[in-house]
Amino acid sequence: MSESAYKSTAFNGGPRLCVGKDFAYYQMKFAVASIIYRYRLKVAKNHPVVLKLDLTMYVKHGLKVNPYKRQEFELQKYYNNNHP
Ligand code: HEM
Repeated sequence: MSESAYKSTAFNGGPRLCVGKDFAYYQMKFAVASIIYRYRLKVAKNHPVVLKLDLTMYVKHGLKVNPYKRQEFELQKYYNNNHP
C-alpha cells in the first residue's frame, strides 16, 4: 500500500494531485545520485540541523554540507561491486 498523498503536501493530493510528481521524484533522485556518486557529503562542522514544521518539510537553517571529491579507485570499487 502506498503512502497517503496528504502525508507530505508538496504535490497536493486528491483531484489536484500533481501529475508531474513521479517525474519530479525521478529528477530529484537522479540529481542526488549523480552528486553522491562523485562527492562524499559531510554536514558542516557546528551547523545546526533543525527541522521546521510547515506545509512542506523544511530544514530551518538549511543543510550546509562540505563536498569531498571521491577518488577514482573508490568509484571503481563501487562500480565493480554493483556490476560484477
Ligand atoms: C518539485 C517539483 C514539483 C512540485 C513541488 C509540484 C507541485 C504541484 C502542486 C502543489 C500542484 C497542485 C496545484 C493545485 O492544487 O492547484 C501541482 C499540480 C500540477 N503539476 Fe506539479 N509540481 C512539481 C513538478 C511538476 C512537473 C515536473 C510537472 C510536469 C512534468 C508538473 C505538472 C503539474 C500539473 C500538470 C499540475 C496540475 C494537475 C491538475 O490539477 O490536474 N509538476 N504541482
